[in-house]
Amino acid sequence: MSRIKIGLIVLLVILVAIQFVQPARNQSVQASSGGIASVINVPENVQAILQNSCHDCHSNNTRYPWYATLQPGAWWMAWHIEEGKAELNFDEFGNYSKRRQLSKLKVIKGSIEDESMPLPSYTYMHKGSILSKTDQKLLIDWIEIARNEISK
Ligand code: HEC
Repeated sequence: MSRIKIGLIVLLVILVAIQFVQPARNQSVQASSGGIASVINVPENVQAILQNSCHDCHSNNTRYPWYATLQPGAWWMAWHIEEGKAELNFDEFGNYSKRRQLSKLKVIKGSIEDESMPLPSYTYMHKGSILSKTDQKLLIDWIEIARNEISK
């Protein structure tokens, strides 16, 4: 056999083998008591946007696409979710200190204004998660109200 053939077979075996090493899924059956709605009023339309565009990486529940079990993509996805949740978790927001809540709202506003969120690698696969101008304005107006609510 040629070296190339052997190389391809080895690669195939590795690809098949790594399919069996799946990262833990970000899916919590327990309702969280520290969700953002426990500390600030979250209107339904705002909730719907957050759910659709942010929750996959910033909550305790990810809606996994069919290809989510394919490696090495699944590891990559798990890493994004872990990083995203560590920075901001809408299901834990109510447990943050007031100071942290205020600073998070500020960075959320910034991430919407500079359109850095949702991540481009995500919107590429989830076109429907891109925030429209109307969504952006709704979120930013809501953040202003929420910041006043918290600083009271
Ligand atoms: C594909 C996963 C993913 C989605 C979807 C996503 N984010 Fe993120 N987000 C991340 C990751 C990963 C980080 C941490 C690394 C970074 O800052 O790039 C992050 C960081 C952030 C931060 C910075 C937090 C800090 O304290 O610096 C904010 C704010 C944020 N995201 C807001 C949002 C908002 C708002 C949405 C929805 C409109 C959203 N993200 C959607 C993955 C995601």
